[in-house]
Amino acid sequence: MKQKVNTFTEEINNAIAVIIPQSPLSTNLEESMSYSLEAGGKRIRPVLLLLTLDMLTSNHEQGLSPALALEMIHTYSLIHDDLPPMDNDDYRRGKLTNHKVYGEWKAILAGDALLTKAFDVVSHDETLSDSVKLKLIQRLSQASGHLGMVGGQTLDMQSENQEIQIDLATLEQIHRTKTGALITFAVMAASDIAQVENHVADALYEYSDHIGLMFQIKDDLLDIYGDEEKLGKSVGSDLENHKSTYVSLLGLDGAEEKLQHHTDAAYDCLAQIEQQYDTSNLKYIIELFVNRDH
Ligand code: IPE
Ligand code: IPE
Ligand code: MG
Ligand code: MG
Ligand code: MG
Repeated sequence: MKQKVNTFTEEINNAIAVIIPQSPLSTNLEESMSYSLEAGGKRIRPVLLLLTLDMLTSNHEQGLSPALALEMIHTYSLIHDDLPPMDNDDYRRGKLTNHKVYGEWKAILAGDALLTKAFDVVSHDETLSDSVKLKLIQRLSQASGHLGMVGGQTLDMQSENQEIQIDLATLEQIHRTKTGALITFAVMAASDIAQVENHVADALYEYSDHIGLMFQIKDDLLDIYGDEEKLGKSVGSDLENHKSTYVSLLGLDGAEEKLQHHTDAAYDCLAQIEQQYDTSNLKYIIELFVNRDH
């Protein structure tokens, strides 16, 4: 499985290396876009999309353009997340944050350009039918926009420095939107391409919801006990910004318990489709999300 993940990661990295062409305009905007995109993230979202499609169809190639688009939107969200009016962080993916190198206005524009380019990439894919492309573009805009990642980032910022702690249901909503929505896109884009039956799509949706929450709970935990070198970003940022996180609300043990709860629930979702599909790709992702140290 590790070999398969490495191969998929390499395919994504090779495609990323050529996705931003040189500009005819005399700006270094493209350099700033590539700086963050090529900085070497884990590529877990595009890999998840390809692993899901590989499970459903034994052929992951049609997933490449939505996978790239997803990584571009995720990278844009990180550039903006690190800006001084948001989380104000100096390190990302083992390097200085985009605005530290290129300045704040250019970091904002690099994010904007990555977001729009993502839709361009999907719309030009010649291996997908027009109806599938339309479905993917709709799904990606919903996952990224005010009801998805951007909405979640807004709730996250609104919940900083609150005198009264937000409740668990609100926190879950933040995690489900700011982080879960793009992870759900990875899984559901693959089921759109494979055109799976409704009961399979339902089980996959539930699975993606649980692993999306797992991913952000672990991110909150790593902000406390993670290693900066391994993570490639500063730890302690949530405490400094008085963020509402699983750890601030439930403590370390409570957050670990929630992580375990969603882990078990994610396995249960896969059990529902086990007779039809070999779910080992998606089981591997669960383990990766629980055990990751970066
Ligand atoms: C960080 O995502 C932001 C969150 C949603 C928690 P990743 O941990 O996937 O970051 P990269 O892509 O590997 O840099
Ligand atoms: C980020 O959440 C979610 C995004 C949409 C970028 P965090 O603010 O916790 O992510 P990190 O810890 O900075 O990577
Ligand atoms: Mg943030
Ligand atoms: Mg942040
Ligand atoms: Mg974090």
